[in-house]
Amino acid sequence: MDLAALEQRAREELDGCTDEAGLRAWYSKYFGRQGEVQQALGRLKDVPPAERPVYGKEVNRIKETLTRDYEAKLAHVKELALTRSLAHDALDVTLPGRPVPRGRLHVATRVMREIRAIFADMGFQVYRSREVEDDLTNFELLNMPPHHPARDMWDTFHTTTPGVILRTHTSPGQIHVMRELCPEPIRVILPGMCYRYEAITQRSEIQFEQVEGLCVGQSVTMADLKGTIVAFARRLFGQGRQVRFRSSYFPFTEPSIEVDIDWPQEDPNADRLTKGTGWLEIMGAGMVHPVVLRNGGYDPDRFSGFAFGMGPQRITMLKYAIDDIRQFWGNDLQFLEQF
Ligand code: FA5
Repeated sequence: MDLAALEQRAREELDGCTDEAGLRAWYSKYFGRQGEVQQALGRLKDVPPAERPVYGKEVNRIKETLTRDYEAKLAHVKELALTRSLAHDALDVTLPGRPVPRGRLHVATRVMREIRAIFADMGFQVYRSREVEDDLTNFELLNMPPHHPARDMWDTFHTTTPGVILRTHTSPGQIHVMRELCPEPIRVILPGMCYRYEAITQRSEIQFEQVEGLCVGQSVTMADLKGTIVAFARRLFGQGRQVRFRSSYFPFTEPSIEVDIDWPQEDPNADRLTKGTGWLEIMGAGMVHPVVLRNGGYDPDRFSGFAFGMGPQRITMLKYAIDDIRQFWGNDLQFLEQF
């Protein structure tokens, strides 16, 4: 075995290594389990006994010097890499930090929370109802049999499954909550998304929120409905705002009313938004129709109730003088950051 040739080759290759990966490959070539220096050591037993001490000494010397040089070079290459990376990716710790933009709740969410809090103070619990409904619950059980003309008021998104629709209002939740809680008295609000196949305008979206309210008990009257709505409107808009009740029609309430709030006259958009009346409608309401009470499991001779359904987006428009409902889902930061 030509130890001198082995040492010379190993040293030349070591000198040629310029980075850590190259060095490590070199090391396994000579000192790995099948490495050439290791093999040279293994051959000691084949050397004639007389030459063994010299051979053994020489291999060990080669092993030690090469290992020492390898380690020194590895340390040097690592040091170089570190210096290079420090120079390249210099970090100026004296620079001021980049401010993290603070998020905030969407104005629709904030108003929704305000509405919930006001009703919570009046003893209303929150009941969550489904957004995908069947025709039966969205219409029929609310006293609108097929072909009832009142269905025209709610343009509907149908799914490909016959009879399965996106709810057009939160009122079908009335049926679910009554059937679940009957014969207990009820005082709940049902907030959630509704969908209507309508033209999108400044005042109307195809997707919007409603907050339904339902109160059922043994002596609930129209006075309770009026009192609840006025108390709510005064908490949300302040004592100065006007509330107007108009008689109206809904198949699931009798009598039915609609509630309007006055729009600030100084707002240049007032005429356009209120169609010149100075009033913006915020909800429909009324005394729960006996048929609906019965469909919910309550005996209309013993129980009565009131219900209302409001549109929080319209309410938010009033509160903040927003002149276009499309802003709510438009994701325009300039709009959203105002609130
Ligand atoms: C209803 O949906 C009835 N279910 C309300 C009701 C409940 C009456 C319980 C009686 C008892 P209406 O279609 O008027 O009624 O809608 C109620 C409110 O939802 C409206 O006053 C309005 O604020 C809001 N709203 C209706 N359509 C839209 C729309 N396309 N975009 C935004 N808000 C809407």
